[in-house]
Amino acid sequence: MLDGKRILLIISGGIAAYKTLDLIRRLKERGATVRAILTKGGAQFVTPLSVAALSGEKVYQDLFSLTDESEMGHIRLSREADLVVVAPASADLLARMASGLADDLATTALLATDKPVLIAPAMNVEMWANPATQANLALLEARGLLRVGPAEGDLACGETGPGRMVEATDLLSAIERFFERPTPLRGRRALVTSGPTHEPIDPVRYLSNRSSGKQGHAIAGALARLGAETVLVTGPTRQAPPPLVRVRAVTTAEEMLAACEDELPVEIAVCAAAVADWRPVTRPNQKLKKDGEPPMLELQETPDILARLSAAGPRRPKLVIGFAAETESLVANAEAKRARKECDWMLANDVSDDSGTLGGDLNTIHFISPDGIEDWPTQSKDAVADTLADLIVAHFQGGAGA
Ligand code: CTP
Repeated sequence: MLDGKRILLIISGGIAAYKTLDLIRRLKERGATVRAILTKGGAQFVTPLSVAALSGEKVYQDLFSLTDESEMGHIRLSREADLVVVAPASADLLARMASGLADDLATTALLATDKPVLIAPAMNVEMWANPATQANLALLEARGLLRVGPAEGDLACGETGPGRMVEATDLLSAIERFFERPTPLRGRRALVTSGPTHEPIDPVRYLSNRSSGKQGHAIAGALARLGAETVLVTGPTRQAPPPLVRVRAVTTAEEMLAACEDELPVEIAVCAAAVADWRPVTRPNQKLKKDGEPPMLELQETPDILARLSAAGPRRPKLVIGFAAETESLVANAEAKRARKECDWMLANDVSDDSGTLGGDLNTIHFISPDGIEDWPTQSKDAVADTLADLIVAHFQGGAGA
């Protein structure tokens, strides 16, 4: 079941650390490779020797160890895993993860990883209930972290309630469930654009629009969950990076185009960004001053990224998908836009003032493809992303461009 899967196990300080020894044994029995990082606290409860003997691998403990870094740097350690498991995840480690600290090997590997992270919290019941811990947890979960437990029961400290780390068998089941999820897009590369772009007028001002990036980020997350190797090229937004997705942050349309072209070849391209259509021709190095007449801005069109990807010749993605943001004649305009930009599918949405689409959580899509038009019900942007991702899977499973 777990044959060939690579687990990076981070063992932090807590009496429950002993359960990870059983976990390592069970993971190994199922064919997984287990590399372990033992924090200073963790080493108070289990010895490096037991962990090394059970995993059959060197145990990593020190961020600044010359031998560890030359054999296996902390970046490689965090990247050469399919899943990072933190067990037990102490209140202290969760707090340090939430603040993005990197002051030991465990937190550095966690900050550097581009892989999904599963935590099994273990702590005293009051520490668990403390608003600080709950806020850290909410933040981490919003960033896509996976969690199992804690369980309720008698705690080592003599109190009773939630805080016990789940048993090794439960943690193993959670790991197996993670690997069982269907990944029909595995082996395919996807590129998603998201958010607005900012086109500078001068060092402090820019032209932009009200795009939040919610839809594009949700699509990148949905494709990555289905196994696509996904890169998200995003303009400035407040959205958290979706788990499993590689993010390239850009500011202007020109930068977005360069980043997209740099990512080719990909098989799937979804242009969900609300690229600013015009940019000022000149960009003075000094702030424009209010000294009399308002300045006249001379504008020029920005590059059309969707059209450029559709016309990329041999490097054209097999499936190019655009959005049409319209305030009138929604479907007719979107159909014309699909023809003009030569993309395969177009998702038309109403962005007029009273639609609430821009910046909101809901979206009503008219899906336009060579097969015709489908009106989707109003649904959350996450649900739109899942619906689109399922259609992409069906497209490739149907043999089209596979
Ligand atoms: N798009 C793009 N690059 C641009 C402009 C738009 O990649 N410079 C993409 C968007 O990401 C979207 C599609 O083209 O997938 C349509 O964007 P939209 O704003 O609806 O259309 P525009 O091309 O800007 O046309 P108009 O403003 O006239 O509606």
